[in-house]
Amino acid sequence: MAYPTPTNLSMSNLTKQFIPLLFISIIVISCTDSSSDKVSEKLSTDLKIDSLLAVMTLEEKVGQTNLYNGTWDFTGPVPKDDNAQEKAENIKKGKVGAMLNVLTVDAVREAQEMAVNESRLGIPMLFGYDVVHGYKTMLPIPLAQASSWDQEVAIAGNRLAAKEAASSGLSWAFAPMIDVSRDSRWGRIMEGGGEDPYLTSIMAKGWVKGFQGDNLSDRYSIAACAKHFAAYGFAEAGREYNTTDISINTLHNIALPPFQAAIEAGVASVMNGFNDLNGVPVTADSYLQRDLLKGDWGFEGFVVSDYNSTIELVEHGYSKDLKQAAADAFNAGSDMEMDSRSYERNLKLVVEEGLVSEAYLDDAVRRILKIKFDLGLFDNPYKYCDAIAEQENILTEENLAVARDAARKSMVLLKNEGELLPLDKKQTVAVIGQLANSKDIPLGSWRAKAIPNSAVSVLEGIQNTSEGRVSFAQGYTLTEGDRVFIYELNFAKPTKSGFAEARRIAAAADVVVMAMGEDCFQSGEGRSQVDITLKGNQLDLLIEVLKVNKKVVVVLMNGRPVAIPELMEAAPAVLETWYGGSEAGNAIADILYGDFNPSGKLPVSFPYYTGQEPLYYNKKSSGRPERNDYDAEMVFWSHYTDSPNEALLPFGHGLSYTTFEYQNLEVAKSSDGISISVEVTNTGNVAGTEVAQLYIRDITASITRPVKELKGFEKIAIEEGQTAKVSFNLSRDELSFYNNQGEKVFEPGEFEVFVGTSSVDVLSKKITLE
Ligand code: NOJ
Repeated sequence: MAYPTPTNLSMSNLTKQFIPLLFISIIVISCTDSSSDKVSEKLSTDLKIDSLLAVMTLEEKVGQTNLYNGTWDFTGPVPKDDNAQEKAENIKKGKVGAMLNVLTVDAVREAQEMAVNESRLGIPMLFGYDVVHGYKTMLPIPLAQASSWDQEVAIAGNRLAAKEAASSGLSWAFAPMIDVSRDSRWGRIMEGGGEDPYLTSIMAKGWVKGFQGDNLSDRYSIAACAKHFAAYGFAEAGREYNTTDISINTLHNIALPPFQAAIEAGVASVMNGFNDLNGVPVTADSYLQRDLLKGDWGFEGFVVSDYNSTIELVEHGYSKDLKQAAADAFNAGSDMEMDSRSYERNLKLVVEEGLVSEAYLDDAVRRILKIKFDLGLFDNPYKYCDAIAEQENILTEENLAVARDAARKSMVLLKNEGELLPLDKKQTVAVIGQLANSKDIPLGSWRAKAIPNSAVSVLEGIQNTSEGRVSFAQGYTLTEGDRVFIYELNFAKPTKSGFAEARRIAAAADVVVMAMGEDCFQSGEGRSQVDITLKGNQLDLLIEVLKVNKKVVVVLMNGRPVAIPELMEAAPAVLETWYGGSEAGNAIADILYGDFNPSGKLPVSFPYYTGQEPLYYNKKSSGRPERNDYDAEMVFWSHYTDSPNEALLPFGHGLSYTTFEYQNLEVAKSSDGISISVEVTNTGNVAGTEVAQLYIRDITASITRPVKELKGFEKIAIEEGQTAKVSFNLSRDELSFYNNQGEKVFEPGEFEVFVGTSSVDVLSKKITLE
């Protein structure tokens, strides 16, 4: 659907007279910019913004804070009073600063022309979209990318996503989502970097850099948006949009670091969220947005509220009506409002009534204009509107190669008993499972403009690679009917009608590859679950198949950790592939057949049972932890009577086709903290890549500290038989933590240092710092 055609494309008399005057003054100011260094560039942008602000009316300023939905591609509740024609008229009146979900070069150009040619000041709009893991070429989902423990994967992936989006009219990505989450019931865990703040911070920087490149003004750079500020991933009971209630130290030590990292990486915008945090909905939280983000952290970009989150302040029971909601959100530092139009309807009024100061409004407008200047939209409002680029830069061979490489680096080998993997290309193979034949599910949730059914399926990937006979049986049916992002899924009634055929082909083949897991729309926004075991009768089928062929490799697809103790017990080999994107099947085959040696590590803990959630490795000890000197029969310690405490698959776990041995851990005081080194030997027969992980425990502190915290890692390629020395240095700053007053403190004392191949398989030593 195209944006409604403007009825009158001619410039108003006022615009015709005014714009040249304005731009003459801007050009004069630009000419005084003699040096090209960053300081003078910033000064010159500031002066341009000042000149523009000086001539803006109150209505025009409010207009910049208004973000309209393009009306046809909804990613939130559909407003009943949505009126495209009215929106078009408002754009022409300069009442709109940005739009979301306006797609294609033609649609963006049409809308941009209304703003630039018809509004009094001709200020260009931003065009935003959820480019979460690719635009048309799908990369692996973000949780998968985090499993690569590789910032380059994040950079390269978002570089390509930015190029495709920027070739299609878009200037702004509503990504990365960097909410740390410890609860696998929460469907949006697929969209972030997992349970750890350090790993998420490393990925966050890469994701921002990928979108924004070296300079926002570059042709294929777009503005990134770090979201959701803050603590949205802590939704109680994992239920989407639910309340979050966490301590000040958990907020600062766990939820906020990735955002601080994104700010350090220069992120252009930040989105707040839907959640109530400790009694204040974050959209109206002035401590977070004004004091911390724009104050202490010196963030210079702008804050956008989440879809309708401003008007939802009323439903939260925080603001008494929509007018108050607009004032509350704005005073708290939400500069732009997404979709719900309470700024459009009330902001002028609340400024006039003195409920909001015009200085706040000027500050918000200044921030929004700055990003528009930085992107180069004032020089060329149609910078992103090139119909040839839109044809040429999308789904290219080069893009698909980047996606394939990202996918294979993101997969995690969970189990490989008897070295069943890698497979021999000459073997005959039975491929089983609805997920194995799906060309759609590997695209994942939050798939932007991916073409439905365009991924390489597991079956196709195997067919492309195997030199033996490949047979296929669907075996089980997980979901049926249309699968659409915004609607509930139809789970199939379990039937065993496909089991006999699956058994037959399994018995006749050398080896079986069985795809199991979740439909990709079981995770993502609005898709929380109380039960994270595998749905339907997939597990029954696995047991049946194992009866006729023991050589079964399970290929898992899921957007969250799943509770699979029986599966892990029964299957000799298990490969976690998440949702691998456009090239998923080829990347999976690269690993299954040994063309790529797996190196991924889990960024999240997998529980035995759903009831263990929230489950995370960086937990506190409790006063009664598991100890081997308790009476084995005694119940008075922190445990479940019907489940282990620990994870089935721990954070940081991931195997390779070779093995690595850690030796000679050295821990010593350095001038500013602790220096650490360890030797890692590749003890197997093939070259491999290992992620050496560094954790610490601050043993006694003024507030209790986690039993382990990831503080560093290094991904190293090691030839067979070779040893690599890995060194780290942890400064006092890195050994510090936030206390319950939100202050960062270093406390001398004893630390335990751990280095190893996962969060549980480590060498350790203690050291005392004065
Ligand atoms: C709501 C989601 O929470 C947010 O992440 C997204 O960017 C907006 N909808 C726009 O689609």
